Amino acid sequence: MEDGRKVLSAVVASQIQEHIKFGGVVPEIASRQHTENIADVVAVAMRTAALDYDMLDAVAVTAAPGLIGALLVGVSFAKGLAYSSGLPIVPVHHLRGHIASNYICHPDLEPPFTALVVSGGHSHLIRVNGYTDFTVLGRTRDDAAGEALDKAARAMGLDYPGGANLDKAAKDGNDRAYEFPHPRVDGSPLDFSFSGLKTQVLNTINSANQRGETVSVPDLGASYIKAVVDCLIKRAELALDMTGDGKFVIAGGVSANSVLRRRAAGMCEKRKIKLFMPELRFCGDNAAMIGAQGFYEFTSGHTASLRLNAKATMEIDAAFPAE
Ligand code: KG4
Ligand code: ZN
Repeated sequence: MEDGRKVLSAVVASQIQEHIKFGGVVPEIASRQHTENIADVVAVAMRTAALDYDMLDAVAVTAAPGLIGALLVGVSFAKGLAYSSGLPIVPVHHLRGHIASNYICHPDLEPPFTALVVSGGHSHLIRVNGYTDFTVLGRTRDDAAGEALDKAARAMGLDYPGGANLDKAAKDGNDRAYEFPHPRVDGSPLDFSFSGLKTQVLNTINSANQRGETVSVPDLGASYIKAVVDCLIKRAELALDMTGDGKFVIAGGVSANSVLRRRAAGMCEKRKIKLFMPELRFCGDNAAMIGAQGFYEFTSGHTASLRLNAKATMEIDAAFPAE
């Protein structure tokens, strides 16, 4: 990445084929695949960008939050690279990276703005006060939006990654065929809760099976996606009322969802505010977004020593230790 905005090369080694066999991510397999692929991926990225290591200014790496084994592979590799090339290490928070995917796709986007970050592990409403200054406005109390979509998709017989496959399968479904509740978290209007929706979709499938009937995957899928997206958009509107921001950003794997993208566009048009979404190839996990955020962390002086450790959990507004 150059200057946080320009992608010099973007290489993604997908593990999807491995995870399909097990219907989801098996942490040990994910870590092993990282170990097997990371050196080649970095070599190809450097070659595609036509760069030598002495032309780099820093090494950015996702250090938290996530599956600890996979994070450790990245952090250890980055430390080795930084040590051998004499470069500073810049630890990047995964969700900060997702938000930064929008800096790649929208050269005019600058903070402050309100962001909805929805992935397999997180669902957050965030005020982005500055490039490295964040306030959490709301979050999920149970499942993440992507997790809720993945589990429902799996129950409907779809392959991993369920969210993306459900999006396709539900394209022509009737989103009013099934009724879902609109769960609210008492006293926390900006928080999400998806576990009730998930239980209801599983119950719908089980009762149909018991009656010897089969559910219509397109109709149930479309109704379920609508229920999840309704929750996301409703809370996002409340967040925008609160911040008064004229810019709304979506990010994370679930921001690839066609219904969410359409509904976010409609909502922003109605409110006469600007919507920013990553291109589809930068919605899911990728290294370019980490490089983009890494630039802003680096220029803010947020580097780490070789004592840097990966962390499975970390708040987006927390700082990595400098030493
Ligand atoms: O950000 P991401 O690639 O990885 C995590 O940080 O978790 O997000 C992965 C999540 C998965 O739950 C996946 O099913 C979901 O994003 N996802 C989608 C779509 N594409 C990926 N969910 C709904 N519709 C999609 N088109
Ligand atoms: Zn992610």
